[in-house]
Order: sequence, then structure tokens, then C-alpha cells
Amino acid sequence: MQAVVLTGHGGLDKLVFHDDWPTPVPEVDDVLIHVGACGLNNTDVNTRSAWYSKGNMEATTGDALAGADGQDGTWGGSPVSFPRIQGADVAGIVVAVGPQADVTLIGQRVLVDGWLRDWGDPMNLDKTSYFGSECDGGYAEYTKVSQRQVHPIDCALSDAELATFACSYVTAENMLNRAQVAAGDTVLVTGASGGVGSALVQLANRRDAVVVALCGADKAKAVNDLGPAAVLERNVTDIRSRLKAAIGRDTVDVVADVVGGARWPQLIDAIARGGRYTCAGAIAGPVVEFDLRTFYLRDLIFTGATVAPPGVFEDLVRYIEQGEIRPLLAATFPLSQFHAAQQAFIDKHHVGNIVVCPGT
Ligand SMILES: NC(=O)c1ccc[n+]([C@@H]2O[C@H](COP(=O)([O-])OP(=O)(O)OC[C@H]3O[C@@H](n4cnc5c(N)ncnc54)[C@H](OP(=O)(O)O)[C@@H]3O)[C@@H](O)[C@H]2O)c1
Repeated sequence: MQAVVLTGHGGLDKLVFHDDWPTPVPEVDDVLIHVGACGLNNTDVNTRSAWYSKGNMEATTGDALAGADGQDGTWGGSPVSFPRIQGADVAGIVVAVGPQADVTLIGQRVLVDGWLRDWGDPMNLDKTSYFGSECDGGYAEYTKVSQRQVHPIDCALSDAELATFACSYVTAENMLNRAQVAAGDTVLVTGASGGVGSALVQLANRRDAVVVALCGADKAKAVNDLGPAAVLERNVTDIRSRLKAAIGRDTVDVVADVVGGARWPQLIDAIARGGRYTCAGAIAGPVVEFDLRTFYLRDLIFTGATVAPPGVFEDLVRYIEQGEIRPLLAATFPLSQFHAAQQAFIDKHHVGNIVVCPGT
């Protein structure tokens, strides 16, 4: 089958396209999925470059990183084993099942929940791994996963559109849950043109929150089309006065952040007393300047968000089926042009997400 195989940590040259890779065989309760499309994510880029390593202090660039160490190069802090097929955001059709799996799944169109759990202890965050990181994922014509991880979906969207959702929207919904975002809350979203950021805008709107989106000036119109109360340029140096002009108050109840980096102290200073900060990424840099006085004197609550508990994926499928959120498909590439697809993803001239389609 076609597959893009990661052979080690480093640059794009570590991703090798094959058209004769062995097709996986579904075991026990696995299903075999014919992949229609698979969305791109930064976790693939970060794992390839070992960005997660504590030895790295840099923003995500997509290049090999001098300080990074493959020994703690994955999201969970463990080494990755190679060769590895990455790719978490699969939309496709079940074409075969293992001996203990439900045969009625064959022929069904499914999305994959990337958070692999110990189903005997599903709330234990320590007993999780990620599809396309600790096991092979969806940058291939076929992939296999436990039947517990697949969710049939009934809607008119294409596979490419469906492949824009999983990782970004589960992450965003988990962030909003962790920060207990409710109707009427003001929420400042960073990286709002990206996968998670655009998901945050849509999902916070869905909760009737008042959303202020931060993004690059060239993407402001597209982000505005998602319906936030206001859009601010990402490099403003006076967030509080911009907030005052945009929404009539100079602080927000919640900051939902995937950017971090040098402008991070400004974000924290824009949170109202008793407000919440939730974070799932640090694309502009993981090491930030943190004035503890702002944190404790304002009674702030901080939550990190990575492993989503059971139930979040089911909610996401429902929102899609009910048309409460819409896909932002920026571009589709054949799997055979994976380098071009990931380079476009890294270049960040797009809004939403980019997907690859095997077999084309
Ligand atoms: N914890 C988790 O489970 C989880 C899951 C998904 C993603 N993440 C992390 O969250 C981050 C965002 O992911 P994503 O999928 O949304 O990424 P994305 O689609 O690449 O979007 C990131 C956005 O951040 C903005 N940005 C990029 N570099 C920036 C910089 N130096 N300064 C300010 N803004 C910058 C860009 O928007 P503008 O050009 O409009 O500014 C870009 O669209 C990544 O670090 C990713 O690894 C974590």
C-alpha cells in the first residue's frame, strides 16, 4: 500500500513515501480502515523534529532542532520507535475486522478518536497513547485501530472535510471544558486562524461565549467569517486597550492559548481577576516569562489540556452531524506529495487545516 514512513528525527527528508508498504492486518478487536483522507497536525511536525524534547527551547519551525534529544522526543516524553506512520485525523471506510470485532462495522464510514486508552481504566490519563505517535496512524492507504476508537459518522461532508476535525476540535473542546467556558464568558483565542484556534472560535461561539480572536493581519477576514465578536492582529503591543475598543472592557474571563512565546505576558495580563488561562500549545515558543504576581494577586486558574477524557469525541461527532461546526479545508494534497503538503502546513499561509488523500 501507499504510506509515508517517518524514519527518524530530523527534517522533511526523514519522511519517505512508499507504494509497497505492507498493509496492516487487523488483530483481535481491530478494524482495518481504507483511509479516505488524513489531516495534518503539528504533533507530527513536533515529533519528527523532536520539538517536545526538554532540550529544545525554540518555536516550531519544522526543521531539525539542534538542542532536541530523541530520548524525550514525543508528546508523552518517551522515545518514538521507527519506522513510524504518523497521522491522527483519519476519515475512511472500515473494510475488514479482527476476529473479535463487530462485523457490522464493515462498510461504515468512520472517524478515529486518536486518544488510545486502557478501556479497563479509561479515565487514567497515564494509560493513554496517541494514534500516529505510539502506533502507526493514517498517512497510508490503510490503517488499523481498535474498534473502540472508531465512530461511525452520518453527514454530507467529504472525507477531506471530515479529516480537518479530530485532533484540533477535540483539543479545543477539551480546553473549553477545562476552563469551564459558559455563555457570556469573554474568551481570547490565540492562533485563531490555525486548526485549534479556528476550532476554539467555533466551539466557544457554540457555547454563546464572546470570542476575541488573535491572528495574522492577512487572515483577519477569514477568521472574522467564523463569527467572533472581534478580531485583533496577533502582534499588537496593547492588547488591553484593543480589547476595550473592541468589546468595551479591557480584560477577558478566559484566555485559550496555543501560541505562547514572547508575547505571552501580555496575554496573562489581559485576564480579569478570578479568570482562567487554558493552554494546549506553544507554537511561538515553549519557554515564557511568567510574573507570579499576576497569577496569584489576580486569583487566576491555569489548566493545561492534552489528553481528552472519554466523551469529548462523541460530542464532536454530534456537533458535526448537527451542522453546529463547519470544516475549514484549506488544501488537499495527494499522499505522494506529502513533503509539499507538510511544507505548506509549516509555512502557515493557510486558514484551517490541510489534508492528504492516499491513492491519488
Ligand atoms: N495539546 C494537544 O493535544 C494539542 C493538540 C493540537 C495542537 N496542539 C498544539 O497547538 C499549537 C497550535 O496547533 P494548531 O494545529 O492549531 O496549529 P496551526 O494550524 O499550525 O495554527 C497555529 C497558528 O498559530 C499562529 N502562529 C504561528 N506561529 C506564530 C507565532 N510565532 N506567533 C504568533 N502566532 C503564531 C498562526 O496563526 P496566524 O498566522 O494567524 O497568527 C497559525 O495559524 C501547536 O503548537 C500544536 O502542537 C496541541
